[in-house]
Amino acid sequence: MTSLATQLSVRLGAAFAAQGLPEDLGQVQGSDRPDLAPYQCNGALAAARLAKKNPRDIATQIAAQLEGDPLIASTSIAGPGFLNIVPSDAAYSAQASALAADPRCGANTADTPIKLVIDFGGPNVAKPMHVGHLRSSVIGDSLQRMGRFVGHDVTSDIHLGDWGLQMGHLITQLQEEQPDLPYFDVDFNGPWPADPPVGLDDLSRMYPQAAAAAKVDEARMKRSRKATAELQAGRAGYLALLKHFIAVSRAGLETDFNAMGVHFDLWKGESDVNPLIPAMIEDFKARGVTEESQGALIIRVAREADKKEQPPLILVSSEGSALYGTTDLATIVDRNQNIAPDRTLYVVDQRQGQHFEQVFRAADKAGLMAEERLEHIGFGTVNGKDGKPFKTREGGVMRLADLLDMANTAARARMDEAGIGEGLDAAALGDIARKVGLAAIKFADLRNQRLTNYVFDLDRFTAFEGKTGPYLLYAAVRLKSILRKAADQGLKPGPIQPQRAEEKALVVALDGFDAALKSAWAKRAPHILCEHVFELAQSFSRFYAACPILPEKDEAVRSSRLALAELTLRQLETVLGILGLEAPERM
Ligand code: ARG
Repeated sequence: MTSLATQLSVRLGAAFAAQGLPEDLGQVQGSDRPDLAPYQCNGALAAARLAKKNPRDIATQIAAQLEGDPLIASTSIAGPGFLNIVPSDAAYSAQASALAADPRCGANTADTPIKLVIDFGGPNVAKPMHVGHLRSSVIGDSLQRMGRFVGHDVTSDIHLGDWGLQMGHLITQLQEEQPDLPYFDVDFNGPWPADPPVGLDDLSRMYPQAAAAAKVDEARMKRSRKATAELQAGRAGYLALLKHFIAVSRAGLETDFNAMGVHFDLWKGESDVNPLIPAMIEDFKARGVTEESQGALIIRVAREADKKEQPPLILVSSEGSALYGTTDLATIVDRNQNIAPDRTLYVVDQRQGQHFEQVFRAADKAGLMAEERLEHIGFGTVNGKDGKPFKTREGGVMRLADLLDMANTAARARMDEAGIGEGLDAAALGDIARKVGLAAIKFADLRNQRLTNYVFDLDRFTAFEGKTGPYLLYAAVRLKSILRKAADQGLKPGPIQPQRAEEKALVVALDGFDAALKSAWAKRAPHILCEHVFELAQSFSRFYAACPILPEKDEAVRSSRLALAELTLRQLETVLGILGLEAPERM
C-alpha cells in the first residue's frame, strides 16, 4: 500500500512538474513542526535556486495548484518557503482504513526479493560467550527477522568458532586429565566411544585452565599448537574428540539461545569447511591469486587507493595451519555451493573490520564473490560504567546465562517497585519478568546506532518509563487489556474516522511504518524501527489520554477509536516481533 506521505509526494510532484520544475522536488516528509501541520515539502527552496526565483513565490504557486485536491485540507507557507500540508479528514479516514485492512499494517515487501545469508552469533566452542557475542546475536536476529518480513529468503548461520588453537588447548588439557582415552592412541582406529568424555561444565573449566597453563609454559603452548595442527591435518582421534566437544558445547549454546528466543537455520562451524580448503588453495594457486611469503601462503589485498595499510590475508601459516581468514574464504565456497546467496551479511564486532576487509577483497580477487555482495555489519562495544569493555564483577567475561539471570532479577525488582503484576501467581510473574528482562537487554542494544558503544546499565534498561523495552511491552499489554475489556462488553470496532488532533497524529505515526522499515533494512539499522515503535507507543499514549475509548457514548466515535487501538496493537506487536521482543498477555 501507499503511505499518505507518498501519495502527497505524487500530488506535489505533479504540481512542480506543471511549473516546468523537476518532479522529485515534490518529496513530502513528516514535518519538523507537527504543531503546525503533520507534513511538509521543502522543494520550493531547491526550485528557487534552479529557476532563480523567490522560493515563497514558488511555494505560493504550488499551493494554489493544490487547491481543491481531495487529499488536502489546507496548506500554508512558513519561513523562507517551506510548504506545510494538512491532509483532509477523508484522507485520514481512507488511510487509516487501508492500514487496518492491510495484514502487514502498511509495510510493503521488497520489489526484488533476494537470497541472503546472515552470519551472526559466532560463539566459540568451549569459550564462554561474551557481550560481543550477545550484541551479534541480538542485532543479527533482528536483521534476520527484518529481512524475512521484508520478503527476502534468509538463511542464518551461527558459524561456530571450532577450529582454532582453543581446540588444541582442549585436547592437551584432556590428555593431562585422562591420558588413557583411546583418542590419544595413534594406533587406535576406532570405533570411537559414543559418549563424550567430558560434560559442559568440564569444557568451560578446561579451556581457561589450558590457556592459562600455556601462557606460562612454553612447552605446553607448543603441545597445544601441535595438537591443533594435527587436528587440522585430520588425525582421526582428534577429529572424533572435536565432534564430542562441538556436540557438548552446542547443547549448552542451544539452551542459551533458546532462552533468548534466537534461532539459527544452520549450526555450521569453521571445522565443517576444512575438507574444502585443500582444493580451494589449489584452485587459488592455479589461478595465480596466492604468493609465498616467509614460508606462508598469502593473498595480497592492498590497493593503490588505500589510505591505510592493508596487510595480506594469510591463507596458510608458516606452521602449515589454516587461519581465521582461510576458513572464512572456504565458508564462502561452501555457501556458494549449497545456498548460492546473492548477499552475505556478517554481524560481527567492528574491531574485526580489517579482517573482513581482507576476506572480502580476497574473495573478490579469487573470483568467489564480488565484494559488494559481502557486508560487514559492525557494531561497537558494550562498556561497564567505568567506560571499559563490560566484564563480570570478578573481572572475567560475562556468561550469557548469568547476564540473562541478572536481567531477570532486575526486571522483577522494577516490577515490584511499580506494582506491576500484583495478584498474579508465581509462574505468571516469572514468565513476565523473563520477557521484561529480555526486552530490556535487547531493546537497550538495538535502540543505539550500531556502531556506537554503550554503557551496560540494567537499572536504566529495565525502567518502565523512557525509551526502553519494558515501556514498550507495557504499552502493548495496556492495549491488550483495553481490547479484552471491549470484547467482554461486546463492543465492536468500526470504520476509522479520526477527528481529534491526537487521533490524526496516531494515524500519521502508524502510517510511518513503511518508510521506517525501508530505511531500517536499507541501512541494516534496527534502531530506526526502535524509533518508530517508540514514537508509535507515545502517540498512542497521547491519544488514549485525550480520547476515551470504552466510556465514549457516541457509538461511531467509540468503534472508530476501538479500531484504531486494534490497529495500533497489531503494528506494535509486528515491530516488537521484528526486534525480537515478546509482550506478555498481562502484567
Ligand atoms: N567466532 C568469532 C569470534 O568470536 C566470530 C565469527 C564471526 N563470523 C565469521 N564468519 N568470521 O570472534
